[in-house]
Amino acid sequence: MCGIIGYIGPKSIVPVLVEGLKKLEYRGYDSAGVAVVDGGTVQIRRVLGKIAVLEESLRADPLQGVYGLGHTRWATHGRPSERNAHPHIDCTGELVIVHNGIIENYLGLKKRLREEGHAFRTETDTEVIAHLIEKHFRGDLAAAVRAAIAELEGAFAIAALSSRDPRKIVVAKHGPPAVVGVGEGETIVSSDINPILGHTSKVVFLEDGDMAVIDAGGAAFTDFQGAKVEKKVETIGWNPLMIEKHGFKHFMLKEIFEQPEVIRDTIMGRVSLDEGEVLLDEVGLSAETLASVRKAVIIACGTSYHAGLAGQLFFETWARIPTTVEYASEFRYRDFLLEKDTLVVVVSQSGETADTLAALRACKPRAAAVVAVTNVVSSSIAREAQGVLYTHAGPEIGVAATKTFTAQMTALALLGLYLGQTKGALEKKALLEILEEFQRLPHKVERVLSQAKAIEDLAQRFVHFSHFLYLGRWVSFPAALEGALKLKEISYIHAEAYAGGEMKHGPIALIDEKMPTLAVVPRDRVYEKMLSNIAEIKARAGFIIAVAGAGDAEIGRHVDVVIPVPDAHPLLSPFLSVVPLQLFAYDIAARRGADVDQPRNLAKSVTVE
Ligand code: G6P
Repeated sequence: MCGIIGYIGPKSIVPVLVEGLKKLEYRGYDSAGVAVVDGGTVQIRRVLGKIAVLEESLRADPLQGVYGLGHTRWATHGRPSERNAHPHIDCTGELVIVHNGIIENYLGLKKRLREEGHAFRTETDTEVIAHLIEKHFRGDLAAAVRAAIAELEGAFAIAALSSRDPRKIVVAKHGPPAVVGVGEGETIVSSDINPILGHTSKVVFLEDGDMAVIDAGGAAFTDFQGAKVEKKVETIGWNPLMIEKHGFKHFMLKEIFEQPEVIRDTIMGRVSLDEGEVLLDEVGLSAETLASVRKAVIIACGTSYHAGLAGQLFFETWARIPTTVEYASEFRYRDFLLEKDTLVVVVSQSGETADTLAALRACKPRAAAVVAVTNVVSSSIAREAQGVLYTHAGPEIGVAATKTFTAQMTALALLGLYLGQTKGALEKKALLEILEEFQRLPHKVERVLSQAKAIEDLAQRFVHFSHFLYLGRWVSFPAALEGALKLKEISYIHAEAYAGGEMKHGPIALIDEKMPTLAVVPRDRVYEKMLSNIAEIKARAGFIIAVAGAGDAEIGRHVDVVIPVPDAHPLLSPFLSVVPLQLFAYDIAARRGADVDQPRNLAKSVTVE
């Protein structure tokens, strides 16, 4: 992972780089650095820690420069330290590079470059790129970068500058993302659009194999061989204000509260209640393709995988299509069988997750079609899939996904209904009932959110517990998995989620008064079965908090605490039950003083395998 940024233009360089890095911090935050060029000299500042540490260092001891590069790191090769932080330099100190990705053949290159006399200062894979560019440099930085990357294996988005070929930044992309913003008399390159939007809304997304040479007057694009490439300049509509905190203590809390709106925005324009119809022609699947689909595979990682598990039930129930859900990181290495009648759906908030992207590429030639469900317009996954269904969640800054989980489930539900509708598997009346329930969902989520204070009070009682069990069955199992993941991610508390029926095959041995259970128990087809699982826990002195239907008068007799959520159409209950679980995890983490928006060791966008 890691975030890269470069700027050349009239604004004061250090604040531009630091503000940009803050917006990229979700990509990694174990160390950071900037390099700026002042006259003929390159000055570098690197720190161990977050951007705030870098900012403080630059405040205490400012750097002067006209243009420069910045980096925020998530360590792959070489532990987090000031020395291993980017930017990295060549032997002369005149050439500087920032890199996102992994250079797989760096050990061989390092050995050879050492034999040729290059002195290495770090344990990183990136440093070989600086020395390779140095080796090929004859006064033209772009030519040297071209020659250097021809020797690289692996994945990279790099930006380089040299005081010996001044007032330009050279960018190359092969794998991780790179976007160039083209403003009035200023040009900026970044790993995503967020640092760019404060300067310009005009952006160019680099494709794999693209290079850009940027200066204050704009950007020139070529391929890795140096042949000119015409790129489309896109105008981005996201408002930078959308990523402010709006008075919430953390972005995560703000994003949890945005979920009603996110459901509305993701449905908007895609359903017609008058016609009782789902309108998803935007996905771009031809009638012929749709008719040929007999099976589906949903591929994703992390939270997106959990949304995929809900999607499986939507597809199977509404479209009657056999559906499996796969971890991208596992699936891509299997000798997987994919027939031409299989629809592949890749789910990725960022649209950049390396494993999901690789799975997409592997499936594309063999599937009926690959459709992406993603939140980021023009992300790599969006661009490479044959069809795209965007989740209209807006930018999500908290590293722990919340509103995008809800948006992904919404999009997958719409896709399931659309497939059911086009394949004639779903009766009009049933479809209309579900669509009407979808219209009511945002309001129901608001009712769950109105209990935030009660959930906070409840969570306070559990701040010092070290282990939690989460249970759910059928459609509540993905919600249980997601609830446990949130707790792990942001509070560093051990939490396990199990399908209720599996509990007696192992986890029940863990139950005692020190391991509370959060049970998701809507009144659905597995309600009675869950009551049996709950009784088994109670018989072993376990404490149980149930997320249950508000209309359920019985559940209180079986558990210790009930968090009521409005009753809903059975398959749509996870939209409601996941919300108290998100809040519960948030409240515990916030009370423990954890870094809620940037938990340790994590990154929002995982562009390495
Ligand atoms: C990281 C993030 C998770 C996310 C996962 C998949 O681990 O921290 O929140 O669920 O990657 O990311 P994607 O962007 O593909 O949904």
